[in-house]
Amino acid sequence: MNFISIVGNCKLKGLIEISGAKNSALPILASALLTDKVLCLKNIPKLLDVESMISLIGSLGSKVKNKHNTYLLETKKISSCKADYDLVRKMRASFLVLGPLLAREGYAEVSLPGGCAIGTRPVDMHLYAMKKLGANISISDGYVRAKRKIKGLVGEKIAFSKISVGATENAIMAAVLAKGETLIENAAKEPEVIDLCNCLNAMGANIEGMGSNKIHIQGVTNLLSASHEVISDRIEACTYIIAAAITNSKLTIKKVNFNYINSFMRVMDKMGLNYSINKEEIFIENNVKLDPIKIKTEEYPGFPTDLQAQLMTLACFSNGISEIEENIFENRFMHVPELNRLGANIEIKGSKAIILGNRNLFGAEVMATDLRASVSLILAALKAKGRTKINRIYHLDRGYENLDYKLSSCGVNIKRGK
Ligand code: EPZ
Repeated sequence: MNFISIVGNCKLKGLIEISGAKNSALPILASALLTDKVLCLKNIPKLLDVESMISLIGSLGSKVKNKHNTYLLETKKISSCKADYDLVRKMRASFLVLGPLLAREGYAEVSLPGGCAIGTRPVDMHLYAMKKLGANISISDGYVRAKRKIKGLVGEKIAFSKISVGATENAIMAAVLAKGETLIENAAKEPEVIDLCNCLNAMGANIEGMGSNKIHIQGVTNLLSASHEVISDRIEACTYIIAAAITNSKLTIKKVNFNYINSFMRVMDKMGLNYSINKEEIFIENNVKLDPIKIKTEEYPGFPTDLQAQLMTLACFSNGISEIEENIFENRFMHVPELNRLGANIEIKGSKAIILGNRNLFGAEVMATDLRASVSLILAALKAKGRTKINRIYHLDRGYENLDYKLSSCGVNIKRGK
């Protein structure tokens, strides 16, 4: 069982550079299936989830070459339309090949992703969107089989009952090659959705309105070769800002897109964090105890659910009682019992967590349960007195590029073991 151990009560010093966004890279890699031309992608982070997506699209016909964080993808033809359970169960984002396969090949057989630690994670809205575009959908033996009608996919109005990042992305990727116009209502506005649309438009798609709740897509007959640089990871950036806040460090973080983290920075302002910003760089120099906070997670541009666990760790050290309400996923408090093992005092009341501040945490052995929970434990370990051992660390490697190196280069005593 892989683990990371950290000697806590440390300070960070120096510079951290933010990597490409995982949640942009994954749908954009899937979009390579939409064209038989070469797609050049830059700033792709080296992550387990990226490797999973690359092996998946490889199994469907994409030829992939890379040099460092730049990838060349070419899918001259689709060699298989089946996304196997074994691949999809490891990473839900595999379900994002549904739209591209349906659009390019007219057929897709994708394993239902199943649930995960943070929730049941249904895909009903993905399937609703494919049906609206003219696909016949059947579900049997754990697989979704989608087949477009003879006349192909036809543009339609897709009105989502609730906001879903993945369903919006699958709908966009299916609609870009559909005949006629598609209007997606109640679309997700996340920066990663905008990044996907910018990449598709560079490939010759005709998408307008990304970043709003209404996205218009005029279908085209085929997509062309393009080059696209993936945006920097807003969740990684905010995670390291919290690391600096928790440890009262002087830390510079580079390649931060502040347009994408307004709700988070407002929370840091409310808590009293001292920092200065210069273009895409933030310098944090914090030596005050922060104020408690009361927030709820929301779809973008609200406070991101992917930062909920990390903010909870910070709240343990603030000056009072904080409250965090999780509104996106039904079971995203798996980090709470582990933080309490380190000496936190967090109580769960339904979808709310009540966090007592002014805590002293002490190193212990804990268990990572999902990607963001694992990093909340890393943040706690930086401040806890003594050594903390975090097991099942593969969760972390799914979403944080070179975390050990980035922290050790800032002076953290961090070791990885088997
Ligand atoms: C994306 O997941 C992200 N993953 C998640 O990040 C992120 O937490 C989530 O969006 C919300 O921002 C990627 O982009 C790869 P949703 P996604 O569809 O698309 C429900 C991380 O840590 N829903 O927006 O799966 C769903 O159960 C990961 O990087 C339906 O009911 O999230 C959830 O309650 C974790 N039916 C809510 O909508 C559907 O068909 C939002 O889910 C689809 C979703």
